[in-house]
This record gives sequence, C-alpha cells and structure tokens, in this order.
Amino acid sequence: MSDDAIADGPVTGKPDPVLEVRGLEKAFGGLQVTDDVDLDVERGTITGLIGPNGAGKSTLFNLVSGFYEPDGGTVRVNGTAVTGAEPHAVANAGLVRTFQTPRKLEGMTVREAMLVGPQHQTGESVLSVFTNRGQVVAEERANLERAMETLERFEIARFADTPATELSGGQMKLVELARATMTDPDILLLDEPIAGVNPTLANKLKGFIRDLNDDGITFLVIEHDMDFIMDLADPIVVLDQGSVLVEGDPGSVRTDDRVIDAYLGGPLDE
Ligand SMILES: Nc1ncnc2c1ncn2[C@@H]1O[C@H](COP(=O)(O)OP(=O)(O)OP(=O)(O)O)[C@@H](O)[C@H]1O
Ligand SMILES: [Mg+2]
Repeated sequence: MSDDAIADGPVTGKPDPVLEVRGLEKAFGGLQVTDDVDLDVERGTITGLIGPNGAGKSTLFNLVSGFYEPDGGTVRVNGTAVTGAEPHAVANAGLVRTFQTPRKLEGMTVREAMLVGPQHQTGESVLSVFTNRGQVVAEERANLERAMETLERFEIARFADTPATELSGGQMKLVELARATMTDPDILLLDEPIAGVNPTLANKLKGFIRDLNDDGITFLVIEHDMDFIMDLADPIVVLDQGSVLVEGDPGSVRTDDRVIDAYLGGPLDE
C-alpha cells in the first residue's frame, strides 16, 4: 500500500472518492430522468442507493458505467474523467456493474460466462494472435484458472459445466457477482443483487459482498429490500425523481420525513 493510500481515506477523514458524479443530466423524450445528480462514493464504503420505482437509480448506473451517454455533467472514476466513455473504458478505469435483469448467456456454460468480458485480454486483438501466440495461450490459461478459483470462492464451482440458462434466478445472481469480480474492479455497482432471491441465498450474498469489501472493493448497491440494504450499507443515498433527496446513515435516512414522503408510506414501513 502506498503512503498516499494510508494517509487518505476514513482514517484521517480526508475525502477519497472512487466515484465522483457532478451535475449529471439525462432526459428521455420530455422526461428528466437524471436531474443534476451530485454523488461521491467514498473508497472502502458499501454505499446504498435507494428510492421509489422509477426514481432513476438504474439510469444512474447506466450513465456512470458508459451504457448511456449523459446530456450533461461529469463522471470520474479514481480521479479519471470517464464521462461518455465506452463501458470497457469505464471498466478499465476500475468501475464494473451488474444488471437489474441479467444479460442473456444463451449457449454458454457458467465457466464460459465467467470468461466473457475480462479486460486487457490480448486474445481480443486478432493481430496479437499472430504476433504473440504464447502470451495469448498463457493468458487464456490464467483466465481459466482465475474463473475456476472465483467460482469456488462463491461456492458455485459445481455449476461450471452447467448451461447458464439452466440456473435459478438466485444462482444467476451469484454468477453475476462472481463475474463482476474477474477484472479486479475498484468499485462494483450492483443493481438489485437480491431481487427474487430466497432469504438464505440473500444472506449468503450479503456475506460475499462484505468479504469483497474487506478485500478492498468499494460498493454502490441499489436494493429495494430495506432491511437488507440498511444492514449492509452506510451511507445510504436516496434518489427521488432523478435527484438526490437525502444522504446519511441508515438510521437517519429511515426516519427522515422527506424519505418517508417520497415512498408515500411504501416499502420503508413494511
Ligand atoms: N432507455 C430508456 N428510454 C426511455 N425511458 C427510460 C429509459 N430508461 C429508463 N427510462 C425511464 O426513466 C425512468 C427511471 O427509470 P429507472 O429504470 O432508472 O428507475 P429505477 O429507479 O431503477 O426504478 P426501479 O426501482 O423500478 O428499478 C422511468 O420512468 C423509465 O421509464
Ligand atoms: Mg432499476
């Protein structure tokens, strides 16, 4: 660890955001879905992102991860401007995300699915296949080993040869989390990691997220299950109608009148 890494961050209280969003804007037709969003995700935190349906949470993920182009504002990852950059470039800067609805992985086994998307893979360049075949083979072997180690870590190695489409929704969520760690991201954005997942597996996922956080990965997590997110994350950011409404610790957010009003007595009271 560098001296800088020791000097900064929570120990001294000096801000050290992995993700910095400023004045982010996005409209679809006449609808302002992202409205002047400012957001910092501090290194080392598990930050929660909550808000009513349609508040713009997934859109914010799409904007910062390069899947949508913002109309205005800036996004920085580890201090590097990535506004409007392609998803692979944002991943290279250190930010990786999962999807609310996992992408289809037809025709792939779980092991193969794990190998889709690793960045910096020399094998992706046709030219390098001819110029440096030995390195390509070595990288592929290393990626395969890494994939198997990762599947073991997440206790899903037994599914390595299973077609990805045959997994249950909960198992698929585990695979999504496992895949997202393959490129050693600095920050992982999870969009509803336990939606449709049974309580036992949800607890397991919570444990895995905490373990990864202990290993140094920062998290920004969207989740509608209030008990889950309030237990896992601190701070919590509340998005409402495209803007940040409140940010604070779980206790203060849960009892904040503005938040209760935004949900109109919905999920927070359940
Ligand atoms: N590609 C798109 N084209 C048009 N409208 C969109 C698009 N993506 C999102 N929207 C609209 O933006 C608004 C915010 O959607 P978003 O998916 O970001 O909400 P959310 O907070 O993630 O909601 P949920 O909790 O239900 O997942 C919604 O009104 C949605 O219909
Ligand atoms: Mg969403």
